[in-house]
Amino acid sequence: MSDQPAASWIVLKFGGTSVSTRAHWDKIAAIARAWRERGKQVLIVVSALSGITDQLKVLTEAHADAPRRAIRDAIVARHESMFAEMQLADRAPLQYWLERLDALVANARAEAGGLPWQAEVLALGEQLSSTLGVTCLNRLNLAAQWLDAREHLHAQPLPNQNAWGRYLSASVPAAPDPVFAQALAARGGLFVTQGFMARNAQGETVILGRGGSDTSASYFGALLKAEKVEIWTDVAGMFSANPRQVPNARLLARLDYEEAQEIATTGAKVLHPRCINPVREARVPLAIRDTNFPELPGTEIGAVAPDAAPSVKAISSRGGITLISMESIGMWQQVGFLADVFEHFKRHGLSIDLVGTSETNVTVSLDPTENLVNSDVLSALCADLAKVCRVKVIAPCAAITLVGRGMRSMLHKLSGVLAEFGAQRVHLISQSSNNLNLTFVVDEVIAADLVPTLHDLLIRAEAMRVEDAAVFGPRWRDLYKKEQSARAESWWIARRAELLALAEARTPCYVYDLATVRARAQALRTISPVDRWFYAIKANAHPALLKEIATQGFGLECVSPGELERAVQVAPEATRLFTPNFAPRAEYAAARAGGVALTLDNLHPFERWGEDFSGHEIFLRLDLGAGRGHHDKVKTGAQSKFGLALDELDEFRRLAHRHGVRIAGLHAHLGSGILDAAHWKDVYVQLASLGEKIGSVRVLNIGGGLGVPARGDEISLDLAALGGALAEVKAAYPQFELWAEPGRYLVADAGVILARVTQTKRKGDTRYVGCDAGMNSLIRPALYEAYHEIVNLTRMYAAPAEPVQVVGPICESGDVLGNNRRLPPTCEGDVLLIAQAGAYGAAMASHYNLREPAGEVIL
Ligand code: LLP
Repeated sequence: MSDQPAASWIVLKFGGTSVSTRAHWDKIAAIARAWRERGKQVLIVVSALSGITDQLKVLTEAHADAPRRAIRDAIVARHESMFAEMQLADRAPLQYWLERLDALVANARAEAGGLPWQAEVLALGEQLSSTLGVTCLNRLNLAAQWLDAREHLHAQPLPNQNAWGRYLSASVPAAPDPVFAQALAARGGLFVTQGFMARNAQGETVILGRGGSDTSASYFGALLKAEKVEIWTDVAGMFSANPRQVPNARLLARLDYEEAQEIATTGAKVLHPRCINPVREARVPLAIRDTNFPELPGTEIGAVAPDAAPSVKAISSRGGITLISMESIGMWQQVGFLADVFEHFKRHGLSIDLVGTSETNVTVSLDPTENLVNSDVLSALCADLAKVCRVKVIAPCAAITLVGRGMRSMLHKLSGVLAEFGAQRVHLISQSSNNLNLTFVVDEVIAADLVPTLHDLLIRAEAMRVEDAAVFGPRWRDLYKKEQSARAESWWIARRAELLALAEARTPCYVYDLATVRARAQALRTISPVDRWFYAIKANAHPALLKEIATQGFGLECVSPGELERAVQVAPEATRLFTPNFAPRAEYAAARAGGVALTLDNLHPFERWGEDFSGHEIFLRLDLGAGRGHHDKVKTGAQSKFGLALDELDEFRRLAHRHGVRIAGLHAHLGSGILDAAHWKDVYVQLASLGEKIGSVRVLNIGGGLGVPARGDEISLDLAALGGALAEVKAAYPQFELWAEPGRYLVADAGVILARVTQTKRKGDTRYVGCDAGMNSLIRPALYEAYHEIVNLTRMYAAPAEPVQVVGPICESGDVLGNNRRLPPTCEGDVLLIAQAGAYGAAMASHYNLREPAGEVIL
């Protein structure tokens, strides 16, 4: 080895869209220049201009001269115009490759369309783009040299590789070559080379196959034992889910090679799985960066971080999966059964992805990216398999995979995910033996809807530890949809001093901000299709809040005599609704006597005490068949005790008629904490069409349930979209009055709890911060795994330390207010603020353990 200091190489790869405009080359120049200024040797690997490889592919497949010439002309024009746009002067290098294109098109080999010819044609895209690139960098005063990738990447055929694979999907054994690295460094500091191609032992051009340019960068990274390979593309990196399906997906700031490989293999498109192995073997770190946002850190892929806590890193899904289920016929534990069936797959050239076995059944999956799975192949396979077993083909399926190191140690956090799968038909579950993935195969049609829900559940269960900034970066939506309105800053930040003073006098204590309540009420009132608004006072019946809300023109929806009484006391003028569930007979009579509108949701009152309602109007609460909401316990459709089932509607009408009762309104409330505006439109449409049939119906009440985002990951309910959706239905059914009855939306953000830290403790790996507010003050985390932001108000601007569990003083293991919270170092006496506690906080408090729950204060 030479005794020169080792050259320090950075390999930068730019994809098709990143090399297709002059502006992009300015960015490439800036990135390269920055590395050069840091004393690094830089090798730039480029793809063809976007779309060119596809055109070249069509050219290789064209059978006549005319289409070939048309494509040739388009390709020439594209590069000419790029040359002009870049205001380049030296035309000779470009001319050389354009002539080469002409020669290849004219070449007699074109008629035969041989593989070596195809490879040479396909390689032209990168030869052209790299030539333009070098000329452009030189014009920008960067001394760049053109490097022929084929001189340095030497393909070797794999065992059993056919001719197609050898020419169009070649592999390169790339191990660090310090002599080459030094020699190249001696020639200069900046090179531009081509992705996607190599040369075989016969000196012919070969192509690396799909993802080829990334793989080239990775090969060069390994060969040069680069300090780093950066793949510059049009997305910031790998995400915790496909951002097109899950806009809340998080950028993955750091992955180890195996995790990245697993994510790439199971569905993520940003990096081809092939390109990880060369850098992994050479231990070269690889990063993904966004050319349009060079300031973003991107995804760093490297060796396993020793202190990494287990976390699900991503959820990916692959469609087009075919399952083959093979039931053995009376051959239990027969020696060689598996060998026999697998032999058939091998014979039909099919590579198996997942396998599930039982004593009598083996089910395997075939992935379309690895196999040519068409009906001919399948029927031939099935015919063979039928000789040894009963065969069933299940397709199309999707494989949904959770990826993360140490999957088995996270099972206890996956109960929500498993419950969600429990509601679906799962054909196969497979856990990889490397402990990196857990895969569920389901019907393809449900995958797209399921993935966002599962992503959300993983975050809520803290199986995906998005709070860990070392691993998880920003949400895709925040990076790329800047127009999404940022959440308004919380009122309690501005009033911190006042709150700290208040906490001196008493903790634990609920504090409410009336201005927030007012603002929420006014915002709802702008939704013009709603004719009358009611407030579900169960969310918070504090008199000051009720008064404020009634002043804003809201009626009050009550579910008990106690709530009705409170409503009369505080706002006697407000219209009241009585919407109880399984209430005793006397309560209806009393409410009706007080002039309150009654809602029934069962046949029983008509069957047993029909006379109580004779000659009156009632509202009917229906169960439309499916619940929604932030947790199973707040979903009030289907398997819940609420609402009349639709198949009892005729009987209900018959009894109403018999007792001379008029059904004046239909009502549905299907759950709480819903953030999707389309939900109420669905409810409205269904009620309207039922209302039309019933005839006597005047009013449709679409319930409450309007959610407020609890975690940064959730998107606020779009009130404008809600108004628009409701207006559409209103236009179709103008005859009905529209009512709604939210609770949480008006008050959740208006309330916080102030609590004082009592003790801190470390046990095992967990640090606890105890405070004087417990589950008797706020039961939502224990009951619904609800997330409430917790801040140390005393040290609000101090840097966060290691994650803690925030607990209360109640004698229950479930007395936990927050898990894995990064508070600043917290001491006895500090004041904690528990946010978003205005709804279902004090209202659900208890005296458990004979501890007084937090009191209530209005600011
Ligand atoms: N209407 C009816 C008939 C209801 O049952 C409810 C709530 C509402 C309206 C108001 O729903 P809201 O807009 O507040 O989501 N304790 C749970 C929520 C239970 C909601 C019960 N019913 C929680 O803390 O999340």
